[in-house]
Amino acid sequence: MIDGNFLTLGIETSCDETAVAVVRNGREVLSNVISSQIPIHTRYGGVVPEIASRRHLEAINAVFEQAVREAEQKLGRKVTRDTLDLIAVTKGPGLIGALVIGVAFAKALAWAWDLPLVGVNHMYGHMSSNFIRYPNLKPPFLCLVVSGGHTNLLFVEDYTRARVIGKTRDDAAGEAFDKVARVLGLGYPGGPKINRLAEQGDPTRVPFKRVYLERDGYDFSFSGMKTAVLNYVNHAVQTKEPLPIADVAAGFQEAVVDVLTEKAVRAAETLGEKRLVLAGGVGANTRLRIRLRERAEEKGLSLYMPDPALCTDNGAMIAVAGYYQYQKKGGDSLTLDAVADLPYGPEEESDDDLIRLSTL
Ligand code: KG4
Ligand code: ZN
Repeated sequence: MIDGNFLTLGIETSCDETAVAVVRNGREVLSNVISSQIPIHTRYGGVVPEIASRRHLEAINAVFEQAVREAEQKLGRKVTRDTLDLIAVTKGPGLIGALVIGVAFAKALAWAWDLPLVGVNHMYGHMSSNFIRYPNLKPPFLCLVVSGGHTNLLFVEDYTRARVIGKTRDDAAGEAFDKVARVLGLGYPGGPKINRLAEQGDPTRVPFKRVYLERDGYDFSFSGMKTAVLNYVNHAVQTKEPLPIADVAAGFQEAVVDVLTEKAVRAAETLGEKRLVLAGGVGANTRLRIRLRERAEEKGLSLYMPDPALCTDNGAMIAVAGYYQYQKKGGDSLTLDAVADLPYGPEEESDDDLIRLSTL
């Protein structure tokens, strides 16, 4: 550490973004370079794991070099083995071939530069993107994590400990957005496309049933809402009726947003927690952000939402999560491994429903 500057390099390759960032003192982003593979996977309608791994391998050196260069410009000095303090990398969950590229890169760099290494849980990374936008935000708080692979309501006890309050029983929210977009012929990735199209639609014209499961529970289910859209589209095709595609997108989005918002707000009320935090790719959804803001104001909750650009996968959030993990628990050894299905739910835990996100 030089002059109070603790610099963490964050590396993220769990899915279709090759991302590297440099973060100062766990909160300030000095660089955040993301090489997206979206144009490559679009033609297949979704992420092709083998192609994702190859692209990570091709891109990671250049992304790393650019992240270092940009951080140097901001700092006004070199970012080298002597000025970096920590290397943080996503160890899971994610696509195994994709994760392995980031983990191998991080391990090689940690060994060559003799720097400490931490393997970070990707979902904990998403939650940590809020610490960038809100310098004074500290756990405990309630966190709604909505991504392509997960939908969870967490009670975050501290930087490396959270309790799962609710989770999806079938599709993740982002997965449902992506599948519905495919049915509507919008392509991949579906979330942003539905988000944009819904702005021109009427959410009340084609209303979809909200699935709350048990009214007093916090688990989610999105596959029924997704199937309802599929049935609606099939019916329109069979009867040769025009498909009001923007209204369908808006109706589906509103149904998902209602359920996410109501469950999160009710959990905050029941737990007596005044701070509600949003995280994950679906957290970029403009309608979800508006509804959460409205409901939080009505209920007197403080709402925290990451910058939309930091909702989806990036290296900065991994650097932040890694920084706090390192402060609390120290580094990992060079035997660190990628784990595709890194446990994230209470069912994998022996210690009742407590999960230790960063050490799993
Ligand atoms: O968190 P993320 O980048 O990756 C995972 O960890 O899964 O989330 C990606 C997901 C995709 O399903 C994508 O469609 C969704 O987030 N997404 C959105 C929006 N932007 C991204 N969903 C709804 N509205 C958006 N604006
Ligand atoms: Zn993610």
